[in-house]
Parts: sequence; C-alpha cells; structure tokens
Amino acid sequence: MNELDPELLALEAAARAAREQAYAPYSKFLVGAALRADNGQLFVGCNVENASYGATICAERSAILAMVAAGQRAITALAVFTDADTLAMPCGLCRQVISEFQENARLLVANPRQRRVLMFAEIFPEPFVLDR
Ligand code: THU
Repeated sequence: MNELDPELLALEAAARAAREQAYAPYSKFLVGAALRADNGQLFVGCNVENASYGATICAERSAILAMVAAGQRAITALAVFTDADTLAMPCGLCRQVISEFQENARLLVANPRQRRVLMFAEIFPEPFVLDR
C-alpha cells in the first residue's frame, strides 16, 4: 500500500472501524464511511439496510446526516471502506448528496489491501445545482 498523509490515514481507520457497525443482513456487503468537516470534526457512518430494500441508507449518506445534525455543512475529506476487491466508489445517489456539502474534498476509497485517493470532483464533475 502506498504512503498516505496522516489526515487520510485517520479517516481510513475511522471508516474501517465504522464498517464494523454496518447493518447489512440482506446484501452482507458492509460499508464504512468517515468524513472531516471544515471545523475539524470527524463523522462516521455505515450502511443501514432495511427489509424493504429501498429504504437502505448508504454509509456515505449516513455520515453526512450525522454531520448536518451536528451543525456542520462542509466536507473537506471523505473515506469509504469495504472489504471488496473492487474498491467501492460512492453510488450515484451519494455522489449527489456529497456534492451538496463539498467544494474541494479529497476522497479515499480503500479495502484492507489497497487504497485510492482522488478528488471528489473527479468522480462527479457536474452535479445538479438548483438555480431558479
Ligand atoms: N452501499 C453503500 O453503503 N455505499 C455506496 O456508495 C454503495 C452501496 C451499500 C448499500 C447496501 O447496503 C450495500 O452497500 C449493497 O449495495
């Protein structure tokens, strides 16, 4: 695994730990997320599935809801952790939600064997913006 700066390393560890709390009895696909708000606070989330399937909440959105409920509005970095060999990128729905609260955020996606660092804007360059 390549070198990582301490900030992203901390987020990766937090996402990895949050993954342990995932509630995913249907897919058995456990996801953890961690984000840093611009006031320095760390928020974590995990996926929470539901028998109705459609009510499932992804780990990324779970972390964002915690951030917003704590009064924060700006993500500076976000980490997503799974055990999947194909690194799990945020789904389309989460990308739109992340875009609401980020301007220049870094994104780390990782599993226990590999990681990838990129800018969130690289994976979601043209979000929907409501301009009336
Ligand atoms: N999932 C996430 O938590 N984040 C994503 O970006 C994609 C998918 C969850 C939802 C569901 O509980 C499981 O992964 C399988 O789709």
